[in-house]
Amino acid sequence: MSDIEFKGQTVFVAGGSSGINLGIARAFARAGAKVAIASRSQERVDGAVAELKSYGGPVLGFSADVRDPLAIAQALQQTHMAWGDIDVLISGAAGNFVAPALGMSANGFRTVVDIDLNGTFHVLRAAHEFLRKPGASIINISAPQAVNPTMFQSHVCAAKAGIDMLTRVLAMEWGPDGVRVNGIAPGPIADTEGIRRLAPTPEDIARMTSSIPLGRMGTTEEIADMAMFLSSTRAQYVTGAVIPVDGGSALSGGRNLGGALNN
Ligand code: HXC
Ligand code: NAP
Repeated sequence: MSDIEFKGQTVFVAGGSSGINLGIARAFARAGAKVAIASRSQERVDGAVAELKSYGGPVLGFSADVRDPLAIAQALQQTHMAWGDIDVLISGAAGNFVAPALGMSANGFRTVVDIDLNGTFHVLRAAHEFLRKPGASIINISAPQAVNPTMFQSHVCAAKAGIDMLTRVLAMEWGPDGVRVNGIAPGPIADTEGIRRLAPTPEDIARMTSSIPLGRMGTTEEIADMAMFLSSTRAQYVTGAVIPVDGGSALSGGRNLGGALNN
């Protein structure tokens, strides 16, 4: 990636205070971009901002909930006022818990759809006027649940499938503006909140890892590499794509039937 240059570009990461999204923010900051992040917790934002500043460039942090269109619009507007047009927009805020549909209240289902799907709409809708046109790259963070029906994940499956469709529709609507809209579908990424929730025990981790063709979980750096590629001139003819970065795990639908081979 050394020949891909983001120096001086403006990058906004919704949900950028931890995990995969912070990994993406970190990669752009290290590459010389001006990076703004937004998430709910002021404390987490402050911690992430302090780390991102250590890479030498300017950093902005906002406490904003993606479920609040006005709050997220204000964060985007302030970023634009400070640094000008936004070159790269990442929408990755998400919530998850493991529960059967019958163990979920209407508010439980709505909460995840509100954060993931409606939140992504709010971020992209509010950002459009502040994007570089032509030239901006938008990346929505999806998940394997968007295509693999996964028990106890009805809320996440519905929300992430909706995000992928939003990616495709807005790629069509905003292509004429020179704005590309793509998605990344990470597989299981080590040391993240998502994995702590979905695979809380060593046994769960071993089971999950055994269904990944490359035999290991991914890293936040590997997701950031794809975000940088998609936002670079090397991908300037790529739009409306949702790219799995998952060690091949989507190929098996997340299921490993190896245990049944000897039966
Ligand atoms: C059933 C649950 C529940 C659970 C919460 N709820 N946890 N229902 N089982 N385990 C219900 C609550 O009872 C409530 O409904 C409703 O959800 C809202 O809960 P709140 O706590 O009030 O919501 P909020 O404070 O907005 O928090 C949102 C959250 C929380 C999603 C519930 O967990 C959160 O903030 N998560 C952010 C971090 C996160 O999840 N990161 C992982 C992303 S990984 P009632 O009816 O009682 O009011 C990911 C994909 C990973 O997205 C893929 C890996 C391969
Ligand atoms: P994470 O660390 O919990 O990241 C979620 C981020 O979103 C946090 O910074 C959180 O900060 C923020 N956020 C949550 N709700 C928000 C809201 N309502 N408004 C604004 N910000 C909000 O989890 P992660 O595991 O790294 O996941 C990051 C992304 O990757 C998610 O989109 C997830 O679906 C996707 N993903 C993860 C995996 C995995 O293996 N971990 C696999 C596939 C896809 P605050 O708490 O401060 O709001």
